[in-house]
Amino acid sequence: MARCLVLLLALLASFIFFGPVRTLTLDYASSPQAPPRQAERAKSSCRCFPGDACWPEQNSWDAFNRTLGGKLIATVPIAAPCHNEAFPPYDAARCDTLRNTYFFPETHLENPSSVMAPFFTNNTCNPFLPASVPCTLGYYVSYAVRASDASDYQKTIAFTNKHNIRLVIRNTGHDYNGKSTGAGAVSIWTHNMKSIELKDYRSLSFTGKAMKMSAGVEVKEAYEFADSRGVMVIGGNCPTVGIVGGYSQGGGHGPLVSKFGLAADQVLEWEVVTAAGRLLTATPDQNQDLYWALCGGGGGTYGAVVSLTAKTYPATTVSSATISFTNTGYNADEFYDAVGTLIESLPSMVDAGAVVIWLITPQAFLVEPATAPGVSKADLDNLFQPLIDNLQENAVPYTYMSQEYPTYLQSYNAMNAPWNVSQNQLGQ
Ligand SMILES: *[C@@H]1O[C@H](CO)[C@@H](O)[C@H](O)[C@H]1NC(C)=O
Ligand SMILES: *[C@@H]1O[C@H](CO)[C@@H](O)[C@H](O)[C@H]1NC(C)=O
Ligand SMILES: *[C@@H]1O[C@H](CO)[C@@H](O)[C@H](O)[C@H]1NC(C)=O
Repeated sequence: MARCLVLLLALLASFIFFGPVRTLTLDYASSPQAPPRQAERAKSSCRCFPGDACWPEQNSWDAFNRTLGGKLIATVPIAAPCHNEAFPPYDAARCDTLRNTYFFPETHLENPSSVMAPFFTNNTCNPFLPASVPCTLGYYVSYAVRASDASDYQKTIAFTNKHNIRLVIRNTGHDYNGKSTGAGAVSIWTHNMKSIELKDYRSLSFTGKAMKMSAGVEVKEAYEFADSRGVMVIGGNCPTVGIVGGYSQGGGHGPLVSKFGLAADQVLEWEVVTAAGRLLTATPDQNQDLYWALCGGGGGTYGAVVSLTAKTYPATTVSSATISFTNTGYNADEFYDAVGTLIESLPSMVDAGAVVIWLITPQAFLVEPATAPGVSKADLDNLFQPLIDNLQENAVPYTYMSQEYPTYLQSYNAMNAPWNVSQNQLGQ
């Protein structure tokens, strides 16, 4: 049931997506990614853009592709089958399939250029607009490099540096700030770099089991691997978010962080290709400045990360709980009194090592879920008792569920049943 923390942002994004085109036009005029007009570009230090004289000829792209062993992909927007003009022609069956699955993250993961935050597509190839509306590249990257290793990163960085082309790093396309796309860009597409290994790690600051994960590993894949080795690794709530990319580099919130710290705090080592094309290892003892910058400085800000190695923790039991109540049938004071009681309980919940994801709307309040590693069900129930007492005193109907699971993965799977994102959002 748990939703990703970006739910509200996503709701906003989907509103904009389906909102009037006029709104979109206005919004995009001030979008930070809007490419400047050609005349402005010529006299500025902006990137070379398709159509500019500096844009490489076809033979340069072909030569680049050969150095990559054929891993260069020219972008065909994901919704091209829903439109008549450009790219492959309209295909009713493929368009229907796409429309029916568009709101599931999985639809976008295997595509080399798609993004889940619709705001950043500029509506240039929207599957829900009529077939007669043209489909153009718009804010999609021009090319993606299906990277397998650091040398693919280095070749792509060298090519984009040489030709002054915008570079984007994209894994799954979850980035809600639009960083996984960019008009006129070449992207390093990290999604297929899936290797994971458990190592006996020894450094000045940490000795123990550590997980080395390549750039394309998703949260759920990391959790399943850790579970199979009897350890826990710190990741987020959304199963398909990449754990190595902007998630960990940007801080990394998730169900286990009250007890163990943020995902960025777990990183022992980054393998990273710098803007100058050097492959470096950054640890607290080596390339320290880069190490600390990557531990929270934002995805892709300081380099293109090839892998990270993270601390793990011995597996423990995990208790989880959900509670929900609505404000129908009683007054707002009682509703907010109950909400206040939960908020007063949060410090003790966090002190006990629980992460409590809660959501309030004008109609309802829900905790979905609270996750407490190493805490018994009875102790978690006690932490919710003040709220339950309050609800019972005011005769407010509520639904409370709690359970103790043998492993974190079982708790995560039970509390994060695949959520149908079709109505409200593109990413989860
Ligand atoms: C790159 O080369 C591969 C293999 O020859 C080919 O399939 C692909 O279409 C090429 N990419 C581009 C952008 O031309
Ligand atoms: C984005 O949309 C606006 C409004 O339709 C359009 O003027 C602009 O050219 C688009 N940007 C790109 C990169 O296609
Ligand atoms: C998701 O919701 C849509 C309707 O919005 C429905 O057609 C589809 O079957 C649902 N899929 C799942 C997996 O629940």
